[in-house]
Amino acid sequence: MTNKTYVIANWKMNPQNEQDVSDLLENISKAIDDGYREKVEIIILPPYVLIQAVANFLKKYSLSFQLGTQNIFWQNSGAFTGEISPNMVKEIGCKYALIGHSERKLYLGETINMIEKKIKIAIEEQLIPILCLNPRKDSMEKLSEELTIYLENIPNEHRQKIVFVYEPIEAISTQGGKIPSSEELVEMKKNIKKMTWPDAKIIYGGSVNSSNIKQFVQEFGFDGVLIGAKSLDPKEFSSIINQIIKL
Ligand code: PGA
Repeated sequence: MTNKTYVIANWKMNPQNEQDVSDLLENISKAIDDGYREKVEIIILPPYVLIQAVANFLKKYSLSFQLGTQNIFWQNSGAFTGEISPNMVKEIGCKYALIGHSERKLYLGETINMIEKKIKIAIEEQLIPILCLNPRKDSMEKLSEELTIYLENIPNEHRQKIVFVYEPIEAISTQGGKIPSSEELVEMKKNIKKMTWPDAKIIYGGSVNSSNIKQFVQEFGFDGVLIGAKSLDPKEFSSIINQIIKL
């Protein structure tokens, strides 16, 4: 658990090759202020096949970012065609695992039951779960039930490790980019804390950019942000980090 502000780069199915990874990280390294090392926990979530390349380029450009995956499977080995185990990603240096992103629910049919199993194995394998929640403001009961399912089998002392992402689906840039009102953002953060614990780490995701970052972190008090599109734009991404350093 860190007290730094989280900036999590969800690269999704990008970039396409190692050269593009190199260019992106080199440009970020030239534009970010060194203060991030003390103040910002920067986590890159690359596609699986590029994780090793990212690790190499982070060293090359002297960047102290953390690595994570966009998904894991709920078992460590076996006959699960096309899946990647928590153990495998840990072996190549991942510390975090994003779990239950709405795009996986939407396009791959990921269910609450699968997500629950993924959180459990992440904790067992000492990967820090970054757990996505997409509540609607009129369904707090559903959110509470969902959280109960996710947390009931996780021992108390391990629950605290989970980083919660509040990500309204319609706020995601490719899903309309409609960010909820200030009141709703504050209310949701409060509700999630009530349903978890008072010092739960809650970050915001959905159309974060260099013009609205201060709002989320300073004004609404989120513990950080999950960034999709703008994490692939070195100017935007560096500006987001540089602004957090100065807060
Ligand atoms: P966005 O994506 O920043 O492009 O809205 C966020 C996400 O889907 O995690």
